Amino acid sequence: MIVLGIETSCDDTSLAFFSPGRGVVGELTANQLIHELYGGVVPEVASRAHMKNLLPVFNALLSKSGLAPKDIGGIGVSNGPGLIGSLLVGVSFAKALAFSLARPVVGVHHIEAHILSNELGGEEFRTPAVVLVVSGGHTCLYKMRTVGSYELVGSTRDDAAGEAFDKIAKLLDLGFPGGPAVDAAARSGNPRAVEFPRAMTRQENFDFSFSGLKTAVRLHVEHLGQLTPQAASDIAASAQEAIADVLVQKTIACAASHRVGDVYLAGGVAANRRLREMLAAECERRGIAYHAPLLHYCTDNGAMVACAAAKHLSKGRDDKLDLDVFTRGPVTSWV
Ligand code: KG4
Ligand code: ZN
Repeated sequence: MIVLGIETSCDDTSLAFFSPGRGVVGELTANQLIHELYGGVVPEVASRAHMKNLLPVFNALLSKSGLAPKDIGGIGVSNGPGLIGSLLVGVSFAKALAFSLARPVVGVHHIEAHILSNELGGEEFRTPAVVLVVSGGHTCLYKMRTVGSYELVGSTRDDAAGEAFDKIAKLLDLGFPGGPAVDAAARSGNPRAVEFPRAMTRQENFDFSFSGLKTAVRLHVEHLGQLTPQAASDIAASAQEAIADVLVQKTIACAASHRVGDVYLAGGVAANRRLREMLAAECERRGIAYHAPLLHYCTDNGAMVACAAAKHLSKGRDDKLDLDVFTRGPVTSWV
């Protein structure tokens, strides 16, 4: 069966076709560069852009993939968490398409889609596992007994890791989105140039806090006065090191405490070169198997939604026209 995945929870309009036997059959994303003008995603602008982009992206994906609407066996759509207007555009489109084609439609939790993006490389998910979800809006640790069973065991008390990257990039004038910009600047910086705080690492829980780091970077930049390109790179590398260090320490402690042999990364920040490197090395040292999504599937994409939806559809689920959106909440278990 070919599943259409629709992702419009934030600023990317991303659609993909996925078949459980063949993997990703086609994918297309329209990025909204307009938010660069504002230094962050403007919700009303995002939902209007989704309205404009969705149908052309769908039609272009059909012709690029050599498929007709009747070839679609089922539809999955991110229905939360996310920006309510953006989610509504995707969900309304999904329901209209499902109704007109007489096909099932399922709402997919955006974070479950990020977690299952790990399967887009072709490997089946190994459980029990601990998953570190790091995106623009979330930083959390989940214990997974099996696919479909999620226990939230830790989360951020304030900023998400991606949000920290974005805010630090703004302080360093590196542009938007901030994560890839900090990642790139850090390549020519010294990660030991500034000793930034590693919050909550002495506490025996799996929660995070990144707002203190953001303040420390701001105070450091103010103290310097003039920011040379080398100073910006050094601060980027040092802040990235602090974020990755905390994420790795907590994830490894969580895996040890729950006695699991598999650790997964998920979400936009999973694309961070240093985080991947540090987590992989620490897992290897501890005899834990490390997994991360292909770089291409770390940030928001329709393929991860289609992949997750295929699992729900295979259980015979159909949300029909009752499907609604939600703005927040952890992943709920369904097995
Ligand atoms: O998962 P995602 O695409 O959207 C949300 O669900 O939030 O994550 C976006 C976040 C942004 O904060 C972006 O700056 C961050 O992921 N990000 C990165 C990198 N690529 C994207 N952060 C650090 N290093 C990267 N290479
Ligand atoms: Zn996301």
